[in-house]
Amino acid sequence: MEMKTDYLMHGGDYNPEQWLSMPEVLETDIERFVEAKINTVTLGVFSWSKLEPREGEFDFEWLEKIIDRLYENGITVILATPSGARPHWMADKYPEVLRVNETRQRMLFGGRHNHCLTSPVYREKVKRIDTELAKRFAPHPAVRMWHISNEFSGQCHCSLCQEAFRDWLKKRYKTIEELNDRWCTTFWSHIYDSFEQVESPSLLGETSIMGLNLDWRRFVSDQTIDFMEQEILALREAGISQPVTTNLMYRFDGIDYFRLAEKVDLVSWDNYPLWGQKEDWEKARETAFWHDVIRSLKKQPFLMMESSPGSTNWQKVSKLKKPGMLEATSFQSIAHGADGAMYFQMRKGRGGEEKLHGAVLDHYDGNDTRTFRDVCRTGEMLAALGEAAGSRTQAEAAVLYDWENCWALEESRGPRNQDLHARESIEKSYRALRRLGHNVDVIDQSCDLSPYRFVAGPMQYLFHEGFAEKIRAYVERGGIFVMTYWSGVADENDRCFLGGTPHGLMDVFGLRSEEIDGLYDWEENRICQGGERLAGMRESYVCKYLCQLVKPMGAQTLMVYGSDFYAGEPALLKNHFGEGDAYYVCADAEQAFYDDLYRKILAEAGIRSAFTGEIPDGVEVTVRKGEEAEYLFLQNFGRETAMISLPEGEVLFGDREGKLEPLGNIVVKIKKKQG
Ligand code: GLA
Ligand code: ZN
Repeated sequence: MEMKTDYLMHGGDYNPEQWLSMPEVLETDIERFVEAKINTVTLGVFSWSKLEPREGEFDFEWLEKIIDRLYENGITVILATPSGARPHWMADKYPEVLRVNETRQRMLFGGRHNHCLTSPVYREKVKRIDTELAKRFAPHPAVRMWHISNEFSGQCHCSLCQEAFRDWLKKRYKTIEELNDRWCTTFWSHIYDSFEQVESPSLLGETSIMGLNLDWRRFVSDQTIDFMEQEILALREAGISQPVTTNLMYRFDGIDYFRLAEKVDLVSWDNYPLWGQKEDWEKARETAFWHDVIRSLKKQPFLMMESSPGSTNWQKVSKLKKPGMLEATSFQSIAHGADGAMYFQMRKGRGGEEKLHGAVLDHYDGNDTRTFRDVCRTGEMLAALGEAAGSRTQAEAAVLYDWENCWALEESRGPRNQDLHARESIEKSYRALRRLGHNVDVIDQSCDLSPYRFVAGPMQYLFHEGFAEKIRAYVERGGIFVMTYWSGVADENDRCFLGGTPHGLMDVFGLRSEEIDGLYDWEENRICQGGERLAGMRESYVCKYLCQLVKPMGAQTLMVYGSDFYAGEPALLKNHFGEGDAYYVCADAEQAFYDDLYRKILAEAGIRSAFTGEIPDGVEVTVRKGEEAEYLFLQNFGRETAMISLPEGEVLFGDREGKLEPLGNIVVKIKKKQG
């Protein structure tokens, strides 16, 4: 089920249960919300002990009153299930709901996001409250969406989880012999005699079986998704018809978000860039990457569920948001395909861990604060862009980012254990494409490659079954695939492939990987021109961390290493295969290498971005396609004012002449040509 709206959502997490003894506060809140064009608030995240103060005793009156008041004022509600934090009575009566850590100690009551997600009692209690909430509020016209729990994360090593893990393994491998074979347990004599001997990885015990480590991560991810599905099921069985979502996190690797996304109607995420740590344009690109990961999970509009209206309060230094940054952050989410830009939090609480975290309304309460004015301005901007809601983002280029591959890389015990710089290498490919003004999808190995003309696969160490065949077919039919070093090394159980790598693709890439050199942090090599000059590329580029040595078997060597005993050996290769081209990048090259290489490859293939004008440094371009028009989003995260020659169309927002000041934003609506 997709969410359809004809406006963009603006609002955020609101916890009025902290103010029930001061009803006048709630009344001013609503007045202020209306003033700031807030149209949606999220209620109920962490409200469990106010909703079920004693086991089986529910109190929903206060919530209903607030929902009614909001609705009377034109504000709709995203209603959360409260399972992100549990009441004290539950932990006291049923200690099994508390997590057990990796060293097998049971935690005390406290904090949040720390329940055993296997515990039948916890699941039962969650089901009960979800059912009651759904029965009461599903029919309420204000409720537009359900928000499942909050930022799912973490793992539990209790005996219930160990049992569930063993059942999960039995389903996957059927016999213990098969498990031993997949996990290569003959190594160090770690053969299992039965499933009952299997324990989750622990520093007190087993960490040396990579297959175990990988499967444990899969289990934790699956178990969390299963827990979420049970919550969704409870809501559906109790009659909800609204879409469901859950809020995801930046660069979070504990759950395979591609699998999770299959179970929700809409994906949303919480965006907290720490501005000021780097140049704005650099930070903005990191954020852009995650927006695109999130959008690509369902290839549909998503929601920025949280962002801070002011400073956050959980990092070492709490930096204020400079003027314009709030609007730019919200604009960026819409540009990348979000249908709403929301905040944590609408009002600061009086006490507790987040009392000083940025909020739309602070303890002073007035509407004459800088933050409140920024929120109002953002509300105006979102209102002006309302018609873009529901429009799609289409990409001809994609970058691979596969959760299981990232896990396997981390567990691999290979050429560099201190840091493989895998995520940066993925982001380098992404940035190179973005600089050229392309929309970029971020996909995993299960995704269909056929919609794309260009795919980058950085460090695809683990190959899922069938992945090599997928790449082969893609290139054969005319696709361009850029693979980088250390790819196609191991299977889904982290068993090394036999017979040469990249597994199943040596003919496609026209080479065989031979060795890989791990470089110390202070070392570097270069990727240089060698032999016939490669047009469009510089004389040389720095490469660091990992240098793969390959043996060409048909591929053309385009560039070579500059130093070490492998100076002159291939560092960049190209192989024409079927109708397409397969490139292999052997080392972790600097950004400029990818910028130049991708510019060259895309130009040669005639793959053009939707915006053909000059893109100054720091300026970001994205395009959303509606049924009748395209929306071109331009924004400047650089330090200098930029002048953009705007295409013909209606300027929906920003300067009509194309003047983009730092943190400036422009949207041009371009009517689709008839016929
Ligand atoms: C997360 C949580 C919120 C809040 C914010 C603070 O995103 O979901 O409940 O704690 O962080 O930044
Ligand atoms: Zn557990």
